[in-house]
Amino acid sequence: MAVNKSPAPVVSGLSKGLTNYGDTGFSLFLRKAFIKGAGYTDDALARPVIGIVNTGSSYNPCHGNAPQLVEAVKRGVMLAGGLPVDFPTISVHESFSQPTSMYLRNLMSMDTEEMIRAQPMDAVVLIGGCDKTVPAQLMGAASAGVPAIELVTGAMLTGSHRGERVGACTDCRRYWGRYRAEEIDAAEISDVNNQLVASVGTCSVMGTASTMACLAEALGIMVFGGASAPAVTADRIRVAERTGTTAVAMAASRLTPDRILTGKAFENALRVLLAIGGSTNGIVHLTAMAGRLGIDIDLAGLDRLSRETPVLVDLKPSGQHYMEDFHKAGGMPALLRELRPLLHLDALTVSGRTLGQELDAAPPAFAQEVIRPFSSPIYPAGGLAVLRGNLAPGGAIIKQSAANPDLMEHEGRAVVFEDAEDMARRIDDDTLDVRADDVLVLKRIGPTGGPGMPEAGYMPIPRKLARAGVKDMVRISDGCMSGTAAGTIVLHVTPEAAVGGPLAHVRNGDRIRLSVQRREIALLVSDEELARRAAEHPIERPQGERGYHKLYLQSVTQADQGADFDFLRASATRETVPGKPTR
Ligand code: FES
Repeated sequence: MAVNKSPAPVVSGLSKGLTNYGDTGFSLFLRKAFIKGAGYTDDALARPVIGIVNTGSSYNPCHGNAPQLVEAVKRGVMLAGGLPVDFPTISVHESFSQPTSMYLRNLMSMDTEEMIRAQPMDAVVLIGGCDKTVPAQLMGAASAGVPAIELVTGAMLTGSHRGERVGACTDCRRYWGRYRAEEIDAAEISDVNNQLVASVGTCSVMGTASTMACLAEALGIMVFGGASAPAVTADRIRVAERTGTTAVAMAASRLTPDRILTGKAFENALRVLLAIGGSTNGIVHLTAMAGRLGIDIDLAGLDRLSRETPVLVDLKPSGQHYMEDFHKAGGMPALLRELRPLLHLDALTVSGRTLGQELDAAPPAFAQEVIRPFSSPIYPAGGLAVLRGNLAPGGAIIKQSAANPDLMEHEGRAVVFEDAEDMARRIDDDTLDVRADDVLVLKRIGPTGGPGMPEAGYMPIPRKLARAGVKDMVRISDGCMSGTAAGTIVLHVTPEAAVGGPLAHVRNGDRIRLSVQRREIALLVSDEELARRAAEHPIERPQGERGYHKLYLQSVTQADQGADFDFLRASATRETVPGKPTR
């Protein structure tokens, strides 16, 4: 008997992913009956379905414009002949997430992935913005494999305090430091509190949210020019409409994330991360996203890129300006034009065009002061440097562009805090034995120890030193810091203390040497002594008792694997980036 070899019909729109009742005809009949209860016609239900992930939440002011964006995306979808269907997922805000937003990132990525899989959609628009939301969405979408496009809520506006322009959150930390040092009083810090966040939207400096917005555009998974428009502008709404229209075209061409998020795209994103002086968290998120697609990010390769990619964007915390200035200066298209010789121009973007084609069609350059030409960078190398040594065999990161040049070659005595509570208890104690040239060490704020890599790596200067005018010290931890923070701060020490990394065995008075020049972070203690300490105090990985806490502690990987869950990463590595040097 002849076998019919014709391919299975492509299932799309409302017929995708039917609920399992054992009778597909009935499943579709029932689905349509229910959605018709909302007043849809058969004509509407026959269109390509574009899901819209709505992360609006009253707990998330960074997404306060989500309702307007959803409306504009819907308009774009309908203009292009699609049917928009918005749905909620978890929304995570930095200041409203206990213990940390990073602890919840993987949960949000699972929610995003499973709801994209579970519900019928031909493409999906991901509306994110606040730090962990964009990586969570892109991780989830990469695993779900449905055509996906990112739309960020956009940056907040800047405020004004007594004539000085201020914005979250570099200025939050600066003013809080002044308050701790008793340079300003309680009344003034209260006034500042009213001005730091002048509108809805994400932090107004090159913190993690702005970094992830720029990286999404560099990856090609966002409309070209879509990263920088502030939240409350007409430009942002137009980007949203364009995103909806683009999503319909992506559905038609089945432009899935694996075709966009390639090794070349990740290498472009790493270049951009370095050139914007981006958040150190960006490398953890990129690693997690790439890991979903079987792409490994090699820290040594990142460091090589860093030596040849200068910081060109003059934004706080590395520079002077704010995101709204970056937008007025031309945003990502202007930056990518400067970086053009270093980029893979054949990388595909959501429009179906390559990055090179998008750049060819971009508006011309004009005179401005925020995005520097290659010949006049604000920092001669990339924003990040990768350190190694016996204290961090798996690597550590420093944001060299926001560090104090006088401390980047430094040796000092360790002043050790066993965990965040220990630090909170003792750091402001006037009897603490600490000097300005010491090295502050904070343990157990890594992926497992935090749990969830709290942004406590930006350790406060001990109050007695702050009062004496000390503004920066070398600080080392296995945690993160906010992308809005600055200082000579070594982060992501891997392996972390909570799983028995060498950091666990540092003691008060040990000598530590930091050399950014040599990319070294060294504990000046012999291997024998470290082995003796490890045998004396064996470390047991913490285990949760139940629920998500248990899943998290048992499954989270180290920072060099993106702190993703081990079971969410691709089963095999297809590619390692950055590749070998070609120029
Ligand atoms: Fe949401 Fe900064 S707190 S972006």
